[in-house]
Amino acid sequence: MSHFESDRHRRAALAAIRVGRIPLKYAYAGSAAYTHDAYARSGGYLSMLASARYEAEALIATRGPGVDRLAVAEIGPGNGGRSSAFLGRLTSLGHPCRRYLALDFSATLLAIACARLARFAGAGMSVDSHVWDIEAGASGGVERWRPERDAVIVCLLGHTLGNVERPTATLANIRASLRRGDVLVLSVVVARPGEAADEVLAPYRSRQFRDAALEPLLAAGLSDADLDFVVRWHDATVTGEAVLRRPAALDGACLPAGHRVRCFQSRRFHHLDVIAAVRDAGWHIRDAASAPGGNHLVITASGE
Ligand SMILES: C[S@@+](CC[C@H](N)C(=O)[O-])C[C@H]1O[C@@H](n2cnc3c(N)ncnc32)[C@H](O)[C@@H]1O
Repeated sequence: MSHFESDRHRRAALAAIRVGRIPLKYAYAGSAAYTHDAYARSGGYLSMLASARYEAEALIATRGPGVDRLAVAEIGPGNGGRSSAFLGRLTSLGHPCRRYLALDFSATLLAIACARLARFAGAGMSVDSHVWDIEAGASGGVERWRPERDAVIVCLLGHTLGNVERPTATLANIRASLRRGDVLVLSVVVARPGEAADEVLAPYRSRQFRDAALEPLLAAGLSDADLDFVVRWHDATVTGEAVLRRPAALDGACLPAGHRVRCFQSRRFHHLDVIAAVRDAGWHIRDAASAPGGNHLVITASGE
């Protein structure tokens, strides 16, 4: 049964659907956490992931305070599959994480991710979680969890920064939630000149992706049979739009046939733009390295 995670989410999502642009965070919460979990286990999703190896190596290379007693706070762990590979890589590099905090907009997805990471708890890592909407403002979640006096490493991996509405403001919210000396490990998907639309969109032409992107509209009471779904590649961004085939009722209002709702976006970044965004958000850049293949950029930065 399609549903929102809370009445607050429901009200905000309904208002957004009416104006035609629903933030992607709603595609990870409530029943959408389960459609995301199914999509994140599909070949299309897995084909787009950077190897956890480069992110783990970037983290170790920061050699910041506390690197031998790693405390890692990960924002947006998704279903935990990729986090598991990342934490496994840290262990195989000789730097097992001792404390791990998962932070996400979605309490449901946090529960799915933490269940998947339980095997690390048996190996001596504590696993905690905290709900935080990084687009809405700063949070005290990391501060309350922080090991006494130690710096922490905050990771924002995969496509997460490309999903938010305002990347620089979001990075500033994260900066405002951390201390001097804390380290940010950010990986983003890179825009590559001349990429053909068919190539970029191929992983998004699956039933699992359509289900994941449309789930918030179904939670709002719209019917899948009334929706067309269109994916596009423009301005270095993949977007997904639902288009109403016929008029539909939404919480007492009537949406006309042809009403469009942008319900997915994944932005690719140009190297210099994303480095500038991190700097503008108050971070001091330590390093920026392209993963082999050139699809991903891993930036490490510290709060100065
Ligand atoms: C594309 S998934 C990435 C998952 C994982 N890092 C990976 O690479 O597979 C985006 C993640 O960010 C979370 N997320 C999206 N918007 C968010 C927001 N505004 N605040 C907090 N988490 C958010 C989602 O719930 C999800 O866990």
